[in-house]
Amino acid sequence: MTGRRVPRPSELRALLAPRRPELRPAARRLERATTIRDLRAIARRRTPRAAFDYADGAAEQEIGLSRSRAAFGRIELVPHALQDVSAIDTSAELLGRPSTLPLVFAPTGFTRLFHHEGERAVARVARRVGIPMGLSTVGTTSIESLAAAAPDTTKWFQLYVLRDRGVTADLVARAQAAGYAALLFTVDTPVAGQRLRDIRNNLTFPPSLRAAADIARHPVWSLNVLTTEPLHYPSLPAQPGTVARVADELFDAKLTTADLEWLRGAWRGPLLVKGILTPEDARRVVDLGADGVIVSSHGSRQLDLAPTPLEVLPAIVDAVGDRAEVFLDSGILSGAEVVAAVAMGARACLVARAYCYGLMAGGEQGVQRAADILRTEIVRTMGLLGAGALGDLTPERVRLRPPGA
Ligand SMILES: Cc1cc2nc3c(=O)[nH]c(=O)nc-3n(C[C@H](O)[C@H](O)[C@H](O)COP(=O)(O)O)c2cc1C
Repeated sequence: MTGRRVPRPSELRALLAPRRPELRPAARRLERATTIRDLRAIARRRTPRAAFDYADGAAEQEIGLSRSRAAFGRIELVPHALQDVSAIDTSAELLGRPSTLPLVFAPTGFTRLFHHEGERAVARVARRVGIPMGLSTVGTTSIESLAAAAPDTTKWFQLYVLRDRGVTADLVARAQAAGYAALLFTVDTPVAGQRLRDIRNNLTFPPSLRAAADIARHPVWSLNVLTTEPLHYPSLPAQPGTVARVADELFDAKLTTADLEWLRGAWRGPLLVKGILTPEDARRVVDLGADGVIVSSHGSRQLDLAPTPLEVLPAIVDAVGDRAEVFLDSGILSGAEVVAAVAMGARACLVARAYCYGLMAGGEQGVQRAADILRTEIVRTMGLLGAGALGDLTPERVRLRPPGA
């Protein structure tokens, strides 16, 4: 039997000493985040609820978002043993330009709501990592100032066609003149989706300090918002106060394929149609000159009960994959999910929430952390699969297990 002893006073002192609050500089906090979900947990603590929920939430009952997550949970990756994976090449060619990863930072509106550096921080990380990033029509940094702040980042401009076609044509011309490499025409927002969290949180833009009761609990966020350039939509002719009103008052619900034809003529360069969910629509827009499609449910933020992008991806790749680049987004939270999508035929994946969590958790460093997490997950997954390059990610390497299995 082990004998007992009287503890030494120094041991007791260490045990009973009042804990000094641990100094947790932002860098250390971010370093401890090993998954995008960890970054999400930090983001939730550090950002007012209305801002966090705007990124985290989805439309209506958020069924589409749960279905997207469930679909990623059904992925089965099939390894090939005894392959030399001592050097793994993750590089891709996206719309004729090199990218170090099959990954793109998706366009997001209201980005400076998450952190005052907003799109500039995202663009700097995109350049450092070597991937493209999208600027939204309802972004919080102007086309030209983002181009000036991040001249070497591959930037794609996301277009919502506005009722005022003069302003729309002007946005296209400005993006072209400022050197944006591609135009993303979003087609899944003919009317505003219903985001219940935003309604319950009374989210307005710019945020009303009175309405968001918990803003006072986030003094650093508030101070940054109050002491930097006021939040506004530099690309819009008017400044409606809520997300839903922007879509309903400014976006054009009369969009047809004639608008795509018009854009094809107006934009010199790669044109992607964002928000495609059927092979028929994919064929239609590629026939009209689109260089690619983004298979997307807008992160389940528009039509809640839409098809799940990952599940419809193979049929869309079959329909147009030989003559257009097919991208996937909506619900991606890990590098393994990007690898699976590439094996199913996607050229690359877009992520929005993943980097928004990073932005909320720690500004530019947080976005960098999100990119580092996704990159290491992509590399590790490829290594474990025995895939030395993206070309090794063929459809036989991935299966979707039946629901519930
Ligand atoms: C906060 C936020 C704002 C967004 N704003 C836009 C936008 O202005 N235009 C657009 O085409 N898509 C927008 N999206 C959709 C994304 O571009 C992308 O399609 C989708 O969010 C990908 O899913 P994920 O966020 O789960 O990665 C937004 C998404 C989020 C999360």
